[in-house]
Amino acid sequence: MAASSLLSAAVRRLEGKVAIVTGGANGIGECTARTFTKHGAKVVIADIQDDLAESVCSDIGSESASFVHCDVTKERDVQNVVDTTVSKFGKLDIMFNNAGIIDVAKPDILDNDVSEFEQVLRVNVVGAFLGTKYAARVMKAVRRGSIINTASVCSITGGSASHAYTSSKHGVLGLMRNAAVELGQYGIRVNCVSPYVVATPLAKNFLKMDDIDGYFGIYENLKGANLEPEDVAASALFLASDESKYVSGHNMIIDGGFTITNSGFSIFGQDE
Ligand SMILES: NC(=O)c1ccc[n+]([C@@H]2O[C@H](COP(=O)([O-])OP(=O)(O)OC[C@H]3O[C@@H](n4cnc5c(N)ncnc54)[C@H](O)[C@@H]3O)[C@@H](O)[C@H]2O)c1
Repeated sequence: MAASSLLSAAVRRLEGKVAIVTGGANGIGECTARTFTKHGAKVVIADIQDDLAESVCSDIGSESASFVHCDVTKERDVQNVVDTTVSKFGKLDIMFNNAGIIDVAKPDILDNDVSEFEQVLRVNVVGAFLGTKYAARVMKAVRRGSIINTASVCSITGGSASHAYTSSKHGVLGLMRNAAVELGQYGIRVNCVSPYVVATPLAKNFLKMDDIDGYFGIYENLKGANLEPEDVAASALFLASDESKYVSGHNMIIDGGFTITNSGFSIFGQDE
């Protein structure tokens, strides 16, 4: 059964739309690709993990999802995935710049290596820049489109991750804001989703833990719910759909109140 037919036409929120999801072979990107196709979109997954991406596409169904190999740090790869998508479907409505990496946590800046720092910025910031650039090239011509970048709570806080990762996510936020100002003139919306910790391969590798739910629970504000990839996908779905037609330049924080909580000083108790 086609992924999109699981939901009736009346509730499909991306019917007829075409989306590219970078980093769609795994984690948040994979979950978002599945969500977008359930809602009627044709999705092109752009990733460097070919086998994994191919298996996600065949699981979703080849009529809804396809794969184009793309290293987001390479301009020709990003241009190619956009061009391939437009030649196959005739348009691009949604660009989800989601591919990202994190480096090994080295709390002392003196131990931080410039090549590792640059690689994180290359994937997270240059990747989002190239995705924005080539999406804008086709969206400007038709004066519509939605570009969404995956930033992080690290886009507005310090101390939660490495220097490189925090710098990169502040950069993703700045890029989104600048692009939203420019591209708003062409009817193109640009936004970010910024999650707290989600138990994906990226987070598990960073923390060197298989089960991170308990670990991060102690830092959470909102009790009684765990942040899951589906929660990030739901925010991306909103920003991709016409329901958010007047939302642009917005950093949608999905953190249960983590970033507005001063954990060092609060009049509220920490009772369970
Ligand atoms: N997991 C979290 O806790 C968390 C929290 C906040 C933000 N994020 C962000 O969410 C996004 C997705 O991360 P995730 O947690 O799903 O990680 P993940 O490791 O599960 O998935 C990342 C995907 O990006 C792909 N990728 C990596 N480098 C690439 C490149 N150069 N070109 C193309 N694809 C590439 C990987 O192959 C993988 O499929 C990232 O931008 C990450 O920074 C994650």
